[in-house]
Amino acid sequence: MFDRFNRKLNYLRISVTDRCNLRCTYCMPEEGIKLFNHEDILSFDDIAGFTKVVVSKGVTKVRITGGEPLVRKGVTVLVSMISKIKSIEDLSMTTNGTLLKSYAQELRTAGLHRVNISLDTIDPVKFRAVTRIGDLNDVLEGIKAAKEAGLLPVKINCVIKDSKEEKDAKAVTRFCEDNDLEIRYIHQMDLVRGHFSEVDGGTGGNCALCNRLRLTSNGKLRPCLFSNIEFDIRKLGFKKAIQLATESKPECGTKNETGAFYNIGG
Ligand code: 5AD
Ligand code: SF4
Repeated sequence: MFDRFNRKLNYLRISVTDRCNLRCTYCMPEEGIKLFNHEDILSFDDIAGFTKVVVSKGVTKVRITGGEPLVRKGVTVLVSMISKIKSIEDLSMTTNGTLLKSYAQELRTAGLHRVNISLDTIDPVKFRAVTRIGDLNDVLEGIKAAKEAGLLPVKINCVIKDSKEEKDAKAVTRFCEDNDLEIRYIHQMDLVRGHFSEVDGGTGGNCALCNRLRLTSNGKLRPCLFSNIEFDIRKLGFKKAIQLATESKPECGTKNETGAFYNIGG
């Protein structure tokens, strides 16, 4: 699959839920969010069926995100359905890590290759402040469980305000060095204002190299995180939605006033 700017689209990110068990200040408003209706959420059959079609068109990398993907009931079943699709070379998950202690081994058995875990600070008090309700220890145990289960390489997503030299980022960097973890620094973004930037140590945020399509948990295919364009895969049919998303992928992102990280999955 190539878009109008000859970018090869080989990466699908699937948000399996807009729900999360944390409330990070940069992601969700304090008062909470209006969640999608239950009946609008894609079934596992739809997600796996859709993935099969995009893989037949050349996608080789698939990432499962949220919200927090591990709060979706039965998500390991979905992982095993997707991992059975031939030609997927890289099957990963982005998670806040809080539930990984219980799920890591099951996920590995289901065929997940690796995980990215969010960690912005290793100070328990600051962690509580950023996530409003989280317990740092759950994440640390989750990271350990992921390594033990062989979900490798375990990568850490560290959201920074200005630079990777700020205090919390430096401490997370050290923690990663000491624990065999790869780190990626993600500048705090603002979708509505169109503030986005490259991911240091990762591949996101560079429009010229963007190879992604995103599927939201309510069945909208989005060709760009920083745009309002979306296509309903159930209304249009999988193939038509893929064709329209590919044809309309913008050369560069602008603004997104109709979605958020917790429902598009970053
Ligand atoms: N800016 C940058 N990254 C964000 N994430 C959530 N909201 C934002 C934001 N405003 C990240 C989380 C996690 C991933 C799911 O998305 O830190 O790593
Ligand atoms: Fe949840 Fe991730 Fe958003 Fe934090 S950033 S509230 S962990 S979805």
